[in-house]
Amino acid sequence: MSKKLIVVVGATGNQGGSVARRFLTAGYRVRGLTRNASSPAATALASTGVEIVQADLDDVQSLKEVFRGANAIFSVTNYWEPFFRPDCRAEAEDMGISCREFAYDVEFLQGKNIADAAATTTDTLDENGFFASTLSHADKCSDGKFEELYHFDAKADIFPTYVNKKYPALAAKMSCIHTGYFYTSYNILPDSYFKKASHSSHKPVPHFDPAGDMGAFTYAVSQMPPGKAYMAAGTTCTWPQFLETWAKVNGVTANYKQVAPEEMIEATADREAGIEVAAMFSYSSDPGYDGGMSLLSADDLRKASDK
Ligand SMILES: NC(=O)c1ccc[n+]([C@@H]2O[C@H](COP(=O)([O-])OP(=O)(O)OC[C@H]3O[C@@H](n4cnc5c(N)ncnc54)[C@H](OP(=O)(O)O)[C@@H]3O)[C@@H](O)[C@H]2O)c1
Repeated sequence: MSKKLIVVVGATGNQGGSVARRFLTAGYRVRGLTRNASSPAATALASTGVEIVQADLDDVQSLKEVFRGANAIFSVTNYWEPFFRPDCRAEAEDMGISCREFAYDVEFLQGKNIADAAATTTDTLDENGFFASTLSHADKCSDGKFEELYHFDAKADIFPTYVNKKYPALAAKMSCIHTGYFYTSYNILPDSYFKKASHSSHKPVPHFDPAGDMGAFTYAVSQMPPGKAYMAAGTTCTWPQFLETWAKVNGVTANYKQVAPEEMIEATADREAGIEVAAMFSYSSDPGYDGGMSLLSADDLRKASDK
């Protein structure tokens, strides 16, 4: 019998790389997407048996070609690349919009391209064959209180909103996987993520190892019926608890002290990043990182596999 084919967006990155490795182990034929097939990450992946193909999320035609015939597709979009790239900053300035809004537009369009291309091969996808990495819709889930949490809404506006509306047949084969706080994220804002953090001390939030665990989580999801939404997390705990573990692992002393969002923004070298991340911490406190949605967890996946 010929092997099933999974096409993995973002295969050279954290989440996609994890998914590529796990499905390879499970006996799938894995096709990994990249813009640069000769990069060190792409060649390393190729040496493990992943078929590396060149495609660009800005080019829907290139996606249609590489998705063709897939039994499964893993989708991920990256808000932070267009947010930080100097040429994107310059373009945003020319357009008279913030880099946060600019990155929303890029991520939204790339997600839409993935959905439009995946819809052209819906028939070949397994019953549960479209796995989309996403987040909750901050604007809707907070009743408009957080209407500019762009890196959440750019994902949720496509996965699931656009897919549900435009492609019911694809939506029927989709699973949405929300991802918890990457435990590595303090590296993005070294001077404020912990040192001047505005996250609430009381609300438990999901924490996640994207490169270590996204593959196992997605593979477990692939064994479930379609049409469900999940929160991929290794641990759910408060920030003081997380910081305690982090300090222990890194061999440093750390005390938790919460500051106002403005103080965190002031302490962040890149002010726009400070605004986006401080809004995320506030949203995570109320209504919550998952926006109050009812999402299935790793425990639910374990229980289902025991049956
Ligand atoms: N940090 C957190 O705490 C956290 C929590 C939840 C969700 N997230 C979300 O996670 C996402 C990032 O995921 P990640 O860490 O897995 O990403 P990553 O490691 O930075 O990898 C990004 C991947 O996307 C690919 N890519 C980017 N632009 C592309 C394009 N135009 N065409 C084709 N491929 C493209 C890259 O491939 P090539 O470079 O090889 O082309 C790479 O494989 C972000 O959207 C972020 O909001 C983050």
